[in-house]
Amino acid sequence: MKEIMESVDYIKNKLSWSDEPVGVILGSGLGSFTDNLSDKVALSYQDIPNFSKTTVVGHAGELVKGSIANQTVLAMRGRFHLYEGHPVTSVVLPIRVLIQLGCKKIIITNAAGGINDKFHPADLVLISDHINFMGQNPLSGPNFEELGPRFPDMSEAYSPKLRNLAKTCGERLNIELKEGVYAGWLGPSYETPAEIRMLKTVGADLVGMSTVPETIAAQHAGAEVLGISCVTNYAAGISHEKLSHADVKDVADKVKDRFGSLVTEIIKGMND
Ligand code: HPA
Repeated sequence: MKEIMESVDYIKNKLSWSDEPVGVILGSGLGSFTDNLSDKVALSYQDIPNFSKTTVVGHAGELVKGSIANQTVLAMRGRFHLYEGHPVTSVVLPIRVLIQLGCKKIIITNAAGGINDKFHPADLVLISDHINFMGQNPLSGPNFEELGPRFPDMSEAYSPKLRNLAKTCGERLNIELKEGVYAGWLGPSYETPAEIRMLKTVGADLVGMSTVPETIAAQHAGAEVLGISCVTNYAAGISHEKLSHADVKDVADKVKDRFGSLVTEIIKGMND
């Protein structure tokens, strides 16, 4: 709690706003969404107390404050992953900080492998639910009652209301949106074809190495989450291509304009 408040105090000293901000966490290759913000100010993660260093290529490592149609947006460009060796409390620090900064709605984005036969690279998918295969939970250990309850409900971890808003915005912009269940995988090695067959059998449509701890922490603290995955590749064994982070980044790069307009439209729609 002390660590969260140190980060929050530092940010509040440097940045100011007067409305309820919308939080955004930007996944691999999706950081250029911040080009859509006006009146931008950025703080490097290096300068924010208790923020770890991001070690992943394609993740910038800065908090950008800006606005979309008079709505303040706090966007985290880059996140911390369990596979980098960060403790789970550091992985969820940015989202907890966003919530303490007043964000009640948070858009969490990621790059993911497509498991569902109907999913193809460059598809945008609304996350309807998740399965935690990461072996860790950010809420294990003592509970901080000031953040949320010991046993938070997860039956609507990804807000149906925000998903409906996203669908309306997708239709308006003529951007096709699919919907599916995201399996969180520890990584950093990609899954084996046998693991993907297992994930498919248990009901996963997508797989990735982030998002699950952040959504759990957000839900614990009562914030509404909209999860959006960019399918960057067919999951292992779904096609015969080998997986590489470079390909993941290339596809995310192709999607970034469509993704940016969608997230912008959703944020505009949040105040309607
Ligand atoms: N598996 C796990 N994480 C990922 C993938 C994948 O296929 N693609 C992008 N992130």
